[in-house]
Amino acid sequence: MRVIPKVELHVHLEGTAPPELVHRISVRNGLPLPERLLGDDGRFRYTDFLDFLRTYDLAASVIRTGEDYRDITYEYLCSCAAGGAIYVELTASPDHAALVGLSDEEHLGGIAQGIDDARRDTGIEGRILISAVRNFGVEQALRVARHAAEHPHPYVVGFSMAGDEAGFPAGDFGQVFEIAAGAGLGCTIHAGEWAGADSVRAALSLPVTRIAHGVRSIEDPSLVSELADRGIVLECCPTSNVVLGVYPSYEQHPLPELRAAGVRVTLGSDDPPYFGATIEGEYDVCAERMGFSAEDLRAVTATAIDAAFCDDDLRAALRDRI
Ligand code: ADE
Ligand code: ZN
Repeated sequence: MRVIPKVELHVHLEGTAPPELVHRISVRNGLPLPERLLGDDGRFRYTDFLDFLRTYDLAASVIRTGEDYRDITYEYLCSCAAGGAIYVELTASPDHAALVGLSDEEHLGGIAQGIDDARRDTGIEGRILISAVRNFGVEQALRVARHAAEHPHPYVVGFSMAGDEAGFPAGDFGQVFEIAAGAGLGCTIHAGEWAGADSVRAALSLPVTRIAHGVRSIEDPSLVSELADRGIVLECCPTSNVVLGVYPSYEQHPLPELRAAGVRVTLGSDDPPYFGATIEGEYDVCAERMGFSAEDLRAVTATAIDAAFCDDDLRAALRDRI
């Protein structure tokens, strides 16, 4: 599996830091670890999806400096490179950085340093998607999009939106995505994870070329045909879906069915230590539990390179590596 080059388009940066790194960072910042962050087993503790989002916010609350973001980025990218990844798009959240008083310059500067250091040490490439948090509301999402549009950064290539999909419908965020797309950022949005086909339909009214998750599109065959016809790419995260309970097992996950229907699919680990996931592991799951051949997995990587929001020079260089 290690010899198959891998590309990851869906992973939340704060969500890549394992408990040990969050602990190291909290000690460095002179902060106690938030009380209900970890269970007795030393792993992140949460009971369901919304509780997971709260635990995620708790972990993010001790990440305070550019150096912290550099270390998280560097350590995550190096672990991906060890598993055979050649390119990762990291979803960064200015809202989480602002909550701890971190400036945009220091936040993005730290992440960019992590990307540069990981490239130097392993050859892996990384780029950044700016994400708004939908449950922080439309006004805040507008501020995030405007800031990203007015302060271009060479490594920021896309815009995304995470958070509570069921409570905050995509259709409310049209202007947010017009601003991001108008600034030349590639756009994607969480949909079809914690709400069904209607949520994906609403997302398709936005200027997006990819959907984060999107797997519950399977509930509406005409939507599946539309995704296939429009060439919309799904960023699928099977382990996240199974651990959080969107589907009871890998065998009941619709990824193979979507792919068989002509939908373009890629793989992501979402929030790796929360779910016991890695990008290499997601490729393994497809091979071992979903019937993908080595050739199928190479095609998944090729789709991810096609759908990446990076510039075409980097895209061509990535193609050369597969
Ligand atoms: N933020 C971090 N992980 C997320 C997920 N799986 N869905 C929505 N928002 C998230
Ligand atoms: Zn996600």
